[in-house]
Amino acid sequence: MTARPLVAVTDVLPRAWLEPLVQACDVVACDEDAPGVLSPPILEAAPRVEGLLCTLEDRIDASTLDRFPRLRVVSTLSVGFDHIDLAACAARGIVVGHTPGVLTDATADLAMTLMLACARRLPEATASVREGRWGRWRPTGLLGLELAGKVLGLVGFGQIGRAVARRARAFGMEILFVRRTPTDDPLGRRVDLDTLTANADVVSLHVPLSDETRGWVDGAFLARMKPGALLVNTARGAVVDTDALVDALRAGHLGGAGLDVTDPEPLPADHPLLDMPNVVVTPHIGSATTDTRRRMARLAIDNLLAGLSGRPLPHAVALPAASTLAHNGGPG
Ligand code: GLV
Repeated sequence: MTARPLVAVTDVLPRAWLEPLVQACDVVACDEDAPGVLSPPILEAAPRVEGLLCTLEDRIDASTLDRFPRLRVVSTLSVGFDHIDLAACAARGIVVGHTPGVLTDATADLAMTLMLACARRLPEATASVREGRWGRWRPTGLLGLELAGKVLGLVGFGQIGRAVARRARAFGMEILFVRRTPTDDPLGRRVDLDTLTANADVVSLHVPLSDETRGWVDGAFLARMKPGALLVNTARGAVVDTDALVDALRAGHLGGAGLDVTDPEPLPADHPLLDMPNVVVTPHIGSATTDTRRRMARLAIDNLLAGLSGRPLPHAVALPAASTLAHNGGPG
């Protein structure tokens, strides 16, 4: 590491979480009222910044990177890295780190929360109480879906998908999953996508956002889902075609949706999804527990410090090879 490299931190983090970074580096913080990689104090220091601790809110593309001529490490406080142009980083010799593993349980907990909230019609039930409509106990009042004995279809079966499977099995659900690698798993049955959509009472998405998965859950996908099935998304909003989802819910084909991520994000307050009683939307809080966010900060800092010292990152994002860049006409 050069003597105390300068690191820019693009959002506000508790001082105690930043301690290992502050010990080893000079830090330029964002303006608290204007966080982000383009925050004025960060832009001012940009020519001297060697490391960036960013979040999924920061678009790290070629034009951003051009402002940071000495940048060597981008470390994102997220498992997802769809906000980072990896080819542009590779072309500039910048390594990229992310934070897988440490947010698995928190995100799986939220997927279950959304699944249960939709299955048991929580928004309608709590609204009826708040609005003074809690009347007589009725034998057929607010009937929901019981998870025990139902089929959960997991689209993507990495660490988070498997953690959801473990939880759902404890609720008595049968697990179907699709994943790219053709390996079986004792937690469930690997099937093709058509089998999954045709049989799942709940479909939960656990794939990263990429060119391949953008808009993947479109009208045709939703039409293949069982009538009355629920969709849960804790992955990335743009994996789902939002208009197609609205149509499928309006048509009554889907029973409901639990969304921690949406496209766009944030969802405007007048968005049709927010008028639907069978839709639960949370504001991208999958990893939002104190323990998890503290661990994410620690891992992001470990990635940064390793990269600045020229050591392998504990969790590096694989970058496209130089030959691929040349072939694709990438920069550099
Ligand atoms: C959250 O969405 C993350 O990618 O960490």
